[in-house]
Amino acid sequence: MDMTVENGHLLWDGCDTVELAKTYGTPLYVFSQSIIEERCQELRQDFVDKYDNVRVAYASKAFSTMAMMRIIEKQGFSLEVLSDGELHTALKAGFPVEKIEINGNNKSMAELEMSIDHGVGRIIVDSLQEVDRISAIAKEKQKTVNVLFRITPEVNVNTHSFISTGQKDSKFGIPINEDILFPQVEKAINAEGINFLGFHFHVGSQLDDNSAHLGAVDIALDLVQEVKKRLDYEVSELNFGGGFGVRYTDEDIRQPFAYFLDPMMEKVLAFCEKENYPQPAVVIEPGRSIVAEAGITLHTIGAIKELPGIRKYVSIDGGMTDNIRPGLYAAKYTGVLANKADQPAAEKVTISGKICESTDILVKDIELPTVEIDDVFATFSTGAYGYSMASNYNKLLIPAVVLANKGQANVIVKRQTLDQLIENEVIPDSLK
Ligand SMILES: Cc1ncc(COP(=O)(O)O)c(C=O)c1O
Repeated sequence: MDMTVENGHLLWDGCDTVELAKTYGTPLYVFSQSIIEERCQELRQDFVDKYDNVRVAYASKAFSTMAMMRIIEKQGFSLEVLSDGELHTALKAGFPVEKIEINGNNKSMAELEMSIDHGVGRIIVDSLQEVDRISAIAKEKQKTVNVLFRITPEVNVNTHSFISTGQKDSKFGIPINEDILFPQVEKAINAEGINFLGFHFHVGSQLDDNSAHLGAVDIALDLVQEVKKRLDYEVSELNFGGGFGVRYTDEDIRQPFAYFLDPMMEKVLAFCEKENYPQPAVVIEPGRSIVAEAGITLHTIGAIKELPGIRKYVSIDGGMTDNIRPGLYAAKYTGVLANKADQPAAEKVTISGKICESTDILVKDIELPTVEIDDVFATFSTGAYGYSMASNYNKLLIPAVVLANKGQANVIVKRQTLDQLIENEVIPDSLK
């Protein structure tokens, strides 16, 4: 993986990671603002500045903090949220509400009301009950809500089945079925308080092959044509989701955004030309590809256990509580000893967490310099779905997050405290 080393220490966006570990303690998430901004710049170059009427909505589930919302806002991008919590974070960060869109396969009435009260830019409908619910709330509040339908495009993707979402048997999206989809679309077009914009899909995540995205675009365009034919209605927006893959290890490929977006846009533009159809706005929702490679996690090494002829376990002061992806989807990571970043590999070890689960293994069989207690292990590419999925299992604290930018470091999330862990707990009188 790409890295800068100075005096044997790993630097991250100009900051000495060993010093960061000392100053802020470990486990510690460290994000590079420069890398996040580079990815945004690539998106502008490959998409926003290249095509008319297109937008990027950062999928905030990948890393949702107020500081991150500020970075995204400064980039001029929109924002995708999935819950009242993500919406609240964005609003508290001052994110322009009209540039927020909300997804979710089971939005509560409270979440729909909150979204409509604040005036979010779009609600992506993902269930058969939602049109009626949105229309009722919008009528009562005398508002008009922009709506897209998330469809299940029924394409198979080459990724872990737990992060593929667009196949037929999926909890996500409205099935493209005669008796289900078209009556819903017709209802949305005619419903009071609803402005039906078009269709949304998200085929899956961590993809380095564009075939699923391209297949889904074909399906969405067929649908656009069918809606015109059957309902005489022209859609004005299509949302193609996220899913663009990143490098977790040296074996992974991060394709340029253009690899996915150019042929997708070619299809849309060719369709519009052929059918004499006004070009709908095209929105994408990248999450991981903006933030994954910008983040690393620092851990301090404690217990070391050698099982002769079997393996050497090296334990860190965190684990699946700060990065559940290896346990959840067998995700692979790599890393370095941040304080020995210029030393050659000397042994093969397995990095294990301190959580009471056998699946709490962060990296299996990694070559490192000779590992000693108190070394600092830096895991690469933990910026997406690391902090987002962090938990308090075993009552470990959620780590702090530091934002590094050209040698300057700022804490953007403080480490949780032991008292915060139990602040919502109540002992009933009968147990006192
Ligand atoms: C609807 C939707 N949009 C966007 C994303 C972001 O995907 P990624 O982080 O892979 O770009 C997801 C991820 O699950 C999603 O469900």
